[in-house]
Amino acid sequence: MGPVSEGEPVTDGPDPASAAPDAPDAPDASRAPGAPGTSGAPGAPAGARPAAYGSDFLQLDAGSVPAGGKADWLARRLRQAMADGRLAVGQRLPSTRVLAAELQVSRGVVTEAYRRLSEDGQVEGRRRGGTVVVAVPLAAPRAPAGPLPTPRPARATGRRPEPARSGPLFAGGPGADAFDALRAAPARIDLVPGQPDLSAFPRAAWLRAERAVLSELSTEHLGYGDPRGAPRLRRAVADWLARNRGIRVEPQEVLIVAGTAQALTLLHPVLRADGLTGVAVEDPGSLGTRQHLQYGGLATPPVPVDEEGLRVDVLRATGAGAVLLTPAHQFPTGVVTSGERRRELVRWAADGGLILEDDYDAEHRYDRPPVPALRALLAERLCYMGSVSKLLAPALRIGWMVPPPRYREGLTDAKRFTDLGNAVLPQLVLARLMESGQLERQLRLLRGRHKRRRDAMIDAVAAHLPGAVVHGAAAGLHLTVTYAPQVPDTALADAALARGVKCHPLSWHRQLPGRPGLVLGYAASPPGAIAEGVAVLGRALRELS
Ligand SMILES: Cc1ncc(COP(=O)(O)O)c(C=O)c1O
Repeated sequence: MGPVSEGEPVTDGPDPASAAPDAPDAPDASRAPGAPGTSGAPGAPAGARPAAYGSDFLQLDAGSVPAGGKADWLARRLRQAMADGRLAVGQRLPSTRVLAAELQVSRGVVTEAYRRLSEDGQVEGRRRGGTVVVAVPLAAPRAPAGPLPTPRPARATGRRPEPARSGPLFAGGPGADAFDALRAAPARIDLVPGQPDLSAFPRAAWLRAERAVLSELSTEHLGYGDPRGAPRLRRAVADWLARNRGIRVEPQEVLIVAGTAQALTLLHPVLRADGLTGVAVEDPGSLGTRQHLQYGGLATPPVPVDEEGLRVDVLRATGAGAVLLTPAHQFPTGVVTSGERRRELVRWAADGGLILEDDYDAEHRYDRPPVPALRALLAERLCYMGSVSKLLAPALRIGWMVPPPRYREGLTDAKRFTDLGNAVLPQLVLARLMESGQLERQLRLLRGRHKRRRDAMIDAVAAHLPGAVVHGAAAGLHLTVTYAPQVPDTALADAALARGVKCHPLSWHRQLPGRPGLVLGYAASPPGAIAEGVAVLGRALRELS
């Protein structure tokens, strides 16, 4: 959403106390990027920040208002309040009436100051929501705090994620805090991959299910649970996998975990106990999952991906005993592993290899038939991992593993000694949503929305990034675009961020050299924001070329 136009420079919102709460299951079009409580505004958490009710946050008294240049003065004071954190992204400014009365200036002065901030892209007028902070100037870099050294693994065979760094976010490669730093960076438009449309989270259905679960719950369910997961959820997941992923397993084969991220961490000691010191990874392939493996001291030799999937001949040549794969929708290229490659992988596993299958967004497909999980072909030498992060919300931190039988006990130990098992209540709520068909309904709803957003992104790329090649559009929550090699993608991503648009440079997800590109999430942003964000990327690329 662009700055407010002349006709509606700023709006006085309703009394903050009467502002409409986020409607559960709110329709797509009503959610703008940057709206408090939506996924679009980095730093604008759900539930919205409180409004600044009066002028207290400015720490001014009416006597300090200068005789002339009042609007200029007020705009400066407001910018200062944003820069030092007194006014945060998502916060609503006081109404012009209230602020004018408190500072004893005319409303025109306040309106003019707000208009200037709006022209700078720092605030945005919302008809009923008042004037809201949407971007704050970047704070001065923090003094080096002397980060604690990253603990070393018992036997360091792999490369640790680089320690956190300061300076331009993308220059110099990703540190261990890369995703946190990007999440915290202020931006108007968020095209970071990896999230579904979070404004579609089925709040009402979740609340209904939670109420039903609580009313049925016996007191012993409030004690410690089975570290492997609540039996009811393990059954619901087994049924879900049969219906949606072609996998037939018994509930006792399912282990409930806190997402794929935790699944990988739980695997560290189990792989080591099995004599494995590394896991080969796809290239390009997910930076996040690679970092999780490296944190456990595991080596992550890269294996290139071509248009059929991972090069199994190269995998064999690395001598790696295990490989992490995203076969249904390769991250980030979107390649579907071909039938021949699947057979080659099955042969590699039969020769003693172990496959870690990350089935991260397989349910989201638009123009192609479903692709069954590799686990449907292979049980003994494959550890399957999935989660609700791309179906409902990453914040739930609920996922599942179907490990090979020989790893089941070791993984149960790892889970027990990590956290005694996932929180029970959300497990039971999720089980209920799965049993009632609500999760399938959610998937159908998301498919429609995501497809419209995907189409908007393809159109925007064609219009603003001519010559760029789009990869992996048939499924998923993101697109990857590659472009001619004259501009490094980290420079482009930094330039985009400086203009209020965040995304991933493709090189974050590479260990081997390759074309520059961007990984652009479309699922979490409305079509208007997608079009505007890609236009910004196009302008930035032209300026850097
Ligand atoms: C390819 C891939 N796998 C796994 C994950 C982690 O997912 P989870 O939330 O289940 O830990 C991500 C996160 O975005 C991802 O991109």
